Amino acid sequence: MSKKIAILVGSLRKGSFNRMIAQTLVEQAPEGYEFAFVELGDLPLYNPDLDEGDVPAAWTRLRGDIKSADAVMFVTPEYNRSVPASIKNALDVGSRPYGESVWAGKPALVVSGSMGGIAGFGANHHLRQSLVFLDMPVLQQPEAYIGGIHTLFDEAGNMTNDGTKDFMGTIMKAFDAWIKKLA
Ligand code: FNR
Repeated sequence: MSKKIAILVGSLRKGSFNRMIAQTLVEQAPEGYEFAFVELGDLPLYNPDLDEGDVPAAWTRLRGDIKSADAVMFVTPEYNRSVPASIKNALDVGSRPYGESVWAGKPALVVSGSMGGIAGFGANHHLRQSLVFLDMPVLQQPEAYIGGIHTLFDEAGNMTNDGTKDFMGTIMKAFDAWIKKLA
């Protein structure tokens, strides 16, 4: 039976280059996986009071999406040298109620993408900080900082840079091995 990988893309933009990176990672993945993009744009900001009563349906959906996944991929831009609020909020929502975190133990992959040369390093490592606390075993190597993301795709969103496309395949092979090692 194929394993399920949940994908969280930190950009909510329709034309997001990070979403195109995520799609390329899916296309370059080894056999044996099904992928599900997780909606982040409609999650109300985390407020513990709401977990006491009428829990927002979008929170329940997110928690279910992660619970049913065997592994999680984060593909994210950098916002002000950190991770976008969309991803941080999803982490917060999935981490509560206390003692019921949906993240613990799920193998994770972090890929950051930016138009700039620093390639989302700040976002990548701020995200890793939260994932340590959430007890997610994150793939360490190869690290994936993708710079110049606006130069990598054609109009249809297909990756045209063969070197980067090969690297996407390398990342997914390493993630596949990581998931199997932890199973
Ligand atoms: C950015 N951007 C950006 N880029 C970067 O390399 N470091 C940064 O700290 C920031 N900060 C930042 C803040 C905010 C609020 C926005 C909207 C943008 C630029 C960002 O990387 C660029 O918009 C990417 O194209 C976003 O990725 P998507 O939307 O194409 O996936």
